[in-house]
Amino acid sequence: MNDIKIGLFGFGTVGQGIYKVIGRSLNAHAEIRRICVRDVNKPREVEIPSALLTDDMTRIFSDPEINMIVEVVDDAGASCRIVTEALRRGLPVVSGNKAMIARHLPGLIDLQRRYGGALLYDASSCGSIPVIRNLEEYYDNDLLLEVKGILNGSSNYILSRVFDHHEEYADALRRAQQLGFAESDPSFDIEGFDSLFKLIIITMHALGVYVRPEDVFTYGISTIHDSDIRYAREKGVKIKLVAQVLKVADDKFTMFVMPEFVPPSRYIYSVDDEYNGVVIRGECYDRQFMFGKGAGSLPTASSILSDIMAHRHNYRYEYKKMGYINRPEYTTDVVLKIYVRYVETPAAELIPFIDIQEQYTSRTDSYVIGTVLLSDLIAIRPSLSAPDLFLVSFPTFFADLDD
Ligand code: HSE
Repeated sequence: MNDIKIGLFGFGTVGQGIYKVIGRSLNAHAEIRRICVRDVNKPREVEIPSALLTDDMTRIFSDPEINMIVEVVDDAGASCRIVTEALRRGLPVVSGNKAMIARHLPGLIDLQRRYGGALLYDASSCGSIPVIRNLEEYYDNDLLLEVKGILNGSSNYILSRVFDHHEEYADALRRAQQLGFAESDPSFDIEGFDSLFKLIIITMHALGVYVRPEDVFTYGISTIHDSDIRYAREKGVKIKLVAQVLKVADDKFTMFVMPEFVPPSRYIYSVDDEYNGVVIRGECYDRQFMFGKGAGSLPTASSILSDIMAHRHNYRYEYKKMGYINRPEYTTDVVLKIYVRYVETPAAELIPFIDIQEQYTSRTDSYVIGTVLLSDLIAIRPSLSAPDLFLVSFPTFFADLDD
């Protein structure tokens, strides 16, 4: 087996973590040969020989010794250019950029098939939890019913600090940024897009179907208010930002990202701080639970190292499920039960409820609980961004079972 000589793109929180874990891992037989960054003079926590750094990507692609690309750049456009260039050259690539992968997955699969290079990205979804490879290999059958969980460490950290430690939302967000969990634009975390991108990737490996990010209902936690937290506490539940993909019939599945009331009987109730938790439910085995650090320098770097090692053993995703004849179809024709808190926006008029089950009105905070079609929520999604609204779903599917 040849030694792995890596051309690394990006030397931020995760890139520096990769440098550390590769240095510790003798069995990887891997070395970082060159690191491409935007600004070579930027001060960095990890000290490295300055000759390793370059701001010229051609120095990596023209180096015949480099036989693997690892990219952990922040910018999805740059990430796409790097990964595309590497795949066109037939080089193996490890990427952690979930936004880029979720948006371009069909094209990236095509490039792998056309030029023979492999793209591995377990690190892109749930940090240190090996969710992609498990879905791809172990759950390679028709029994899978649901993959549901907390896929974003920053929003979970914020909710935990606010919920369990009575901290202010803005302080918790700042801390998540300082600790290196949050994206450079933290709205990706708190508005649910980071969870969405991971869910798109998970769905491809769970069901063999690609769904475009813009076709999935996504709602985050940025408008959560004290009164929502009080409501949840009174009911003995927590509010978590949950992403889920689930079969609603043998030939249909749905998916969405939104806050959910989580009772203590559920596995994800105890997933706090920057941890992620993923529940996988199947017909014959009920449910399985994966738990681990979903954000941060070393947890993510450990997953990158795992992808590097997987390549060393010639592993690649085969996307076998894409070839299955009975892949389920995506539907948004499903009924959800939701809580909507509002101040001035007339929620009961704005949202085309099928049925209203509870309504509370006060001068400062009112709420309405009822059932609604997911497709109707998608149709009015822009109006749901009003700052005085907050939506939470009740666990509707498999609600009779603990998860
Ligand atoms: N910002 C992401 C999170 C990093 O908080 O989960 C890991 O993908």
